[in-house]
Amino acid sequence: MATESILIIDDEEGIRDSLSGILIDEGYEVKAVDSGEGGLEALSRKVPDLVFLDVWLPGMDGLETLERIKDISPDLPVIMISGHGNIETAVNATRIGAYDFLEKPLSLDRVLLVAGRALERKTLERENRELKETLQKKWVLVGESPVMREIRSQIDMAARSNSRVLITGESGTGKEIVAHLLHALSARADKPFVELNCAAIPHELIESELFGHEKGSFTGAFDQKKGKFELADNGTLFLDEIADMSFNTQAKLLRVLEGQSFQRVGGSKDISVDVRVLAATNRDMEKMIKEEKFRGDLFFRLNVIPIKLPPLKERREDISLLVEHFLELLAQEYGQPKKTLAASALQKLVSHDWPGNIRELKNLVERLVIMTASDNIESVGISESKAQSNYFIIDGLKQARDTFEKDYIEAKLKQHDWNISKTAEAIGVERSNLHRKIKSLGIATP
Ligand SMILES: Nc1ncnc2c1ncn2[C@@H]1O[C@H](COP(=O)(O)OP(=O)(O)OP(=O)(O)O)[C@@H](O)[C@H]1O
Ligand SMILES: [Mg+2]
Repeated sequence: MATESILIIDDEEGIRDSLSGILIDEGYEVKAVDSGEGGLEALSRKVPDLVFLDVWLPGMDGLETLERIKDISPDLPVIMISGHGNIETAVNATRIGAYDFLEKPLSLDRVLLVAGRALERKTLERENRELKETLQKKWVLVGESPVMREIRSQIDMAARSNSRVLITGESGTGKEIVAHLLHALSARADKPFVELNCAAIPHELIESELFGHEKGSFTGAFDQKKGKFELADNGTLFLDEIADMSFNTQAKLLRVLEGQSFQRVGGSKDISVDVRVLAATNRDMEKMIKEEKFRGDLFFRLNVIPIKLPPLKERREDISLLVEHFLELLAQEYGQPKKTLAASALQKLVSHDWPGNIRELKNLVERLVIMTASDNIESVGISESKAQSNYFIIDGLKQARDTFEKDYIEAKLKQHDWNISKTAEAIGVERSNLHRKIKSLGIATP
């Protein structure tokens, strides 16, 4: 991934130096100029990912510069920097399109926090756009084994009905792809596809995520918020990791599925929606029902059409096709020629057991592509115990940091028998946060 670039526009040399210093240390590419005119000139040569802009500038002032920047690049996030005298101007600037503002003296933590947030939002917006563009390309289910053919025909049929589908299968077997395909191939395809990962958000927030909330309904509810059900109206709602939903919330969800109407948290108005619900889980639901951890009545409502994805080791004949597919995707992503895999290396992959299924295979292929200098990958290094990565041959701080973070979290998870709560506590992060990391870094949990 390319380094994110930041433009600083401030006439005070001290601010330019300290801001640049902090941001360069974080791995960003930074350019600093001392005037609005200089800023626009820099922008005309290269549009950065983020701008820090002083409110008070000699010549063209901050607000005018902001307006011109917004003319040139409406989506570019701009963070205003204000001195004590002009905080009000900075606040006003956020009304005319600035993303946020910072007050001098600058606090290092806040600078990084606000910058991180602005860039994250920008990335999210871009990802959303790309997602839409590559929808058809991205959600392909590779595999010509008899069981994958059968699953593709099940998907075709289920997509055309309006029925609820419960997608099951071990972690990393493609459940998310199936959910997207069910939407993309349905009559609702041009309506929203909304996803909620029940494991990745704290239990106490799930209801507000699902049903929305009214202003002031609980601490932190500053504004009224629409829930996923409302956002998915006329479209599809995908409830991922449904087994993680608390018993209480399960009862509420059941009521909505029975009547298609609900109330926002803290609200009294009945809201009706037309939503097709898809759900997925990698857990054994029947066992959970026996143990009274999941409501049987909800299970039957969700499981109108079951689709069960097989583990990768039960369809080894698909491995070479999948490897080809990932090599192709990676070559596109990195803008490099496609690498090849030696026959002996492929043989090793085919005989491996893949507890993390396709996600594990995909991660391994990605790792090999990054770590192998030549165009032909001859050694795949599985079955030997995993050697520590050589972080120092990785180009790019972000890539190196992700690789380290992944190795670290994986090692800690192993130490704690893959218990997410225990590991989260041990390394000092929130359970939901760790969960997100596991997903975003592509760690295969057995
Ligand atoms: N048949 C397939 N063809 C191509 N790519 C696949 C296939 N199955 C899975 N993948 C890829 O493998 C990765 C894991 O798949 P996915 O996220 O759908 O798994 P999942 O079943 O939802 O797992 P989890 O239970 O852990 O959420 C994704 O990057 C996905 O694109
Ligand atoms: Mg999934």
